[in-house]
Amino acid sequence: MNLKEIIREIPDYPVKGISFKDITTLLKDPSAFNEVVNQVHENFKNKGITKIVSLESRGFIVGGAAAYLLNAGFVPIRKKGKLPAETVAESYELEYGSDTIEIHKDALTEDDIVLIHDDLLATGGTALAALNLVEKMNVKKVYFSFICDLKFIENGKKEVLSNYETHTLVE
Ligand code: PRP
Ligand code: MG
Repeated sequence: MNLKEIIREIPDYPVKGISFKDITTLLKDPSAFNEVVNQVHENFKNKGITKIVSLESRGFIVGGAAAYLLNAGFVPIRKKGKLPAETVAESYELEYGSDTIEIHKDALTEDDIVLIHDDLLATGGTALAALNLVEKMNVKKVYFSFICDLKFIENGKKEVLSNYETHTLVE
């Protein structure tokens, strides 16, 4: 199945010059959605993943389904002010704009083997901020999973992320 063709591109959204990768066309296709979740499961089923950490909001969809298949717990990272208990926060630059994300302080322990999942790796700002949050909890090991990696964007953040075992479905 050609997942790349199923992801719709919207030119000049949300601002001029950005070609938005719209995964809703993949999510609404039962066999494409199934294939994506199964591939994440297939790749990580022997890694002892205890928690999937996913990013609001587009990361939650496949992250939640994959956590179910992997028999792992699900931990949300949310935009600032959304999580009710005590949190740790990290600010980061987006492809367009900047943001702050948070995780619950008690969400992870040093026994956890974590898979950080998001739909898209663009500048790597979001993923690196997620890594910084997760590493504050001294977890055992961190893996990454993305549906899509915009390979044409290369920078220092992505170099840091390349030190971690990563599974990507579409480039
Ligand atoms: C998008 C996308 C990734 C991130 C990738 O999320 O879903 O999370 O940007 O960009 P980066 O690698 O340059 O950081 P966004 O913050 O737009 O929010 P959403 O998931 O709630 O739509
Ligand atoms: Mg996102």
